[in-house]
Amino acid sequence: MAERPLDLHGRPLGVLRLSLTARCNLACPYCCPDLEDPPDLLTLAERVALVEATVGLGVHTLRLTGGEPLLHRRLEELIAALQPLRRRDPADPRGALREIALTSNGVLLGAERARQLKAAGLDRITLSLDGTDGASVARMAGLGGAAAGEAVLAKVLAAIRHAREAGFDPALGAVKLNAVITRTGNADQLLPLAELAREQGLELRLIEFMDVGNRNGWAPEQVLPAAEMVARIGAVWPLEPVGRAPHGTAGRWRYRDRAAAGAGADGGAHLAVVASITAPFCGDCNRLRITADGVAYSCLFAAAGTDLKPWLRPGADAAALEQALRHLWLQRRDRYSEERQEAVDQRPVPAEMAYLGG
Ligand code: GTP
Ligand code: 5AD
Ligand code: SF4
Repeated sequence: MAERPLDLHGRPLGVLRLSLTARCNLACPYCCPDLEDPPDLLTLAERVALVEATVGLGVHTLRLTGGEPLLHRRLEELIAALQPLRRRDPADPRGALREIALTSNGVLLGAERARQLKAAGLDRITLSLDGTDGASVARMAGLGGAAAGEAVLAKVLAAIRHAREAGFDPALGAVKLNAVITRTGNADQLLPLAELAREQGLELRLIEFMDVGNRNGWAPEQVLPAAEMVARIGAVWPLEPVGRAPHGTAGRWRYRDRAAAGAGADGGAHLAVVASITAPFCGDCNRLRITADGVAYSCLFAAAGTDLKPWLRPGADAAALEQALRHLWLQRRDRYSEERQEAVDQRPVPAEMAYLGG
């Protein structure tokens, strides 16, 4: 088996976050998506080649992101084209892909699209929802007014239903809900969001507002610490810690009443927090990001990426691409969130969130 590279902190590569487009159909101020895609988007064949190369280096999970990945018309085709990597024996020396996940705002997830994604071989969908009323959704999604927020809310609630009906099972973690929480934006939505997720049997993942990019107006006062989110929800529905999965982003909590009722084995009875600001998880970060135009970033906060196009365009060979990626991973020393916490003032000027795909 080809040797799997470890970075300079001894971390293996495990997850590829592949952005398909930098554009989005919403304009959440905490993310600030681009209005247009970069000019030189990768082709489907180039994306398949990239995934195959990273699988050879240890990637077992692919997460498709954006901008908004459902804006990408060939999304299902890409997922279908990756299935041979899924069918490989786990002991295959070339590596094997275990799962394909999608992070989406859900607005475009109609019933038919959900069925197509399932049929193509998608395993998991995480949908974003930052509030349970029109005004909150509008505020967090950068929309004109409560009516526009109501419309988006209705679409995301329908998307949850469509995903479930298409066969994505929330109890197995195949449908999750992401909510970015800011102190003055939607902290009042914590309990309503938790209630909605509990009713629907979904894992809700509360995300601390991160200082990604340069244009989302991040300020430390706007960060609601994860511990406070857990305390507020736990005061109503008592929680017990489950811990963070190895290499995971989210610390998970179990609702005591659900666990007691026997529903706590998996998925739906959990709350999770992504505490990148107050409890960074760089120590075992196994994620590589590749943008829609083929630039690889070894950290969400990296100042610069490596343009992989020279290894992808016609004439390039697969071994050279894998070698370039191996080199990139072997050089990796990023642990930005931990450095921020240690007050090591090294903040680079990072690329924008929508470009990197979160
Ligand atoms: P699971 O596979 O379900 O655990 O999903 P995930 O948390 O890895 O991915 P998702 O796209 O749902 O991201 C949830 C939040 O975590 C988003 O705000 C991401 O930007 C953030 N996130 C994901 N990976 C990293 C990371 O490596 N570092 C930091 N700081 N944040 C991350
Ligand atoms: N801080 C935290 N999470 C963010 N996301 C987008 N911008 C930010 C930010 N500034 C989330 C999205 C989505 C995921 C890909 O990243 O809401 O759930
Ligand atoms: Fe990984 Fe960078 Fe996030 Fe740390 S800050 S967890 S190294 S992406």
